[in-house]
Amino acid sequence: MSFIYEYIKHPRSIGAVAPSGRKLSRKMMKPIDFDNAEVIVEYGPGTGSFTKELIAHRRPETVLLLIEQNEEFCKKLAHRFRGEKNVHLIHGNAEYVMEYLRAYGYDHADYIISGLPFTSLPGDISDKVLNATRTALGNRGEFITFQYSLIKRDFFERYLSINETLKEMWNLPPAYVFVMKNRRIAM
Ligand SMILES: C[S@@+](CC[C@H](N)C(=O)[O-])C[C@H]1O[C@@H](n2cnc3c(N)ncnc32)[C@H](O)[C@@H]1O
Repeated sequence: MSFIYEYIKHPRSIGAVAPSGRKLSRKMMKPIDFDNAEVIVEYGPGTGSFTKELIAHRRPETVLLLIEQNEEFCKKLAHRFRGEKNVHLIHGNAEYVMEYLRAYGYDHADYIISGLPFTSLPGDISDKVLNATRTALGNRGEFITFQYSLIKRDFFERYLSINETLKEMWNLPPAYVFVMKNRRIAM
């Protein structure tokens, strides 16, 4: 119920009336090499559907930075994942990902998992978030996000290169998972 309530209050930034289901959450984990990931960032964890899977799959020493701008969701996340080692919850904005990474002593993330609703977010915010994401990924990091259609493909391609598109049929509505990286600069 809290999800619907927050959606009514902030429709553009919440962007969905219910949290993502387990099948989609697991599909979001598929591209991640958990054995080698040192730092994983999550944008917009909401009530923690993806966070739960990240915590279940990661090594205990892998650092997880959760960046959530909604205060009510932050309270829920803090309670739900209390006591988890190396999980840092930031009540903040994804566009400042570099500041948060640096505050914890990192200059890039190995993976950035996003639940942000790019279809409903204002264009200037998406632009700032995706530009900051490019910096935060460095040469090797991967950005993983989902959409309910392929409409935003070209928009994402303006910032990053889509390396893989996975489909999750067992989600309502069915969803696409995009796996992106920075483009290699030709020498
Ligand atoms: C569609 S919900 C996804 C929640 C969860 N990841 C899931 O899939 O169930 C979008 C979330 O992104 C958060 N959000 C929107 N814009 C944000 C921003 N600029 N920085 C951080 N979080 C943001 C919202 O508050 C909300 O929790």
